[in-house]
Amino acid sequence: KKIVVLVSGNGSNLQAIIDACQSNQINGKVVAVISNQPNVYSLIRAKQANIPSHVINHKAFISREEFDDKVQQQIDCYQPDLIVLAGYMRILTTDFVQHYAGKMLNIHPSLLPKYPGLHTHRRAIEAGDKEHGTTVHFVTEDLDGGPIILQAKVPIFDNDTEQDVTERVLTQEHRIYPLVVKWFCDNRLNMQDGKAYLDGKL
Ligand code: GRF
Repeated sequence: KKIVVLVSGNGSNLQAIIDACQSNQINGKVVAVISNQPNVYSLIRAKQANIPSHVINHKAFISREEFDDKVQQQIDCYQPDLIVLAGYMRILTTDFVQHYAGKMLNIHPSLLPKYPGLHTHRRAIEAGDKEHGTTVHFVTEDLDGGPIILQAKVPIFDNDTEQDVTERVLTQEHRIYPLVVKWFCDNRLNMQDGKAYLDGKL
C-alpha cells in the first residue's frame, strides 16, 4: 500500500511509521511526506529515508480552500491508498476531507472525546486527571471527532510536568499509530456510515 504522510513538525510519529514499513511490520511504503512548515525535522527524516518531500507553505495561499487544493493535487500525484496525518497542524476543508473519506487517519494526544484541540496535556494536568492518552481515528469533518480506532492510556503522576506527560504519550503513539497503519494496509480497517470497523466488527 502507498502511504502519504502529512506533517508540520518533529515527525517522531512519521519516523515510527517509516521504521515499521522498512522492517516489513507494515505492508506498505511511505511514498511522500508533505509539510506545511519549512525547515522542520520531519523533512530531514524523509530525506534520510530517501522519501520525496514537499513543502507547501499555507502562508503563500489566500484561502484554506486554495491551500488544501494544492495539497490535494500534490498528494494525488502519488495515488496513495492511505493518507496519514502525523502532527499536521492545519484545519482541513470539507472538500479535502470528503476526497479522502475512509482513507485518512489522524492521531490526537488525548483520550477522545476528551480534550479535542490544542494543549491537551496541559489541560489534563490542570484538570487533575489521573490518566491521559492518545487516540487514532479516521478523519471526518468533525475536528478530532472522527470514529475512534484505537486508544492508549498513560498515567499522570503527582508533580508531572507537561513535558513528562508529552513524552509518556509519545511513547504510546509510536506503538499504536504503526499498528493501526498496519491494520489498514492489511485491509482490516474501514469506515462506514461514520463508524470504524476492524475485521468487520466495531
Ligand atoms: C503528537 O503528539 C500527535 O498526537 C499530535 O502532534 C504530535 C506530533 O508529534 N497530533 P510528532 O511530530 O509525530 O513527533
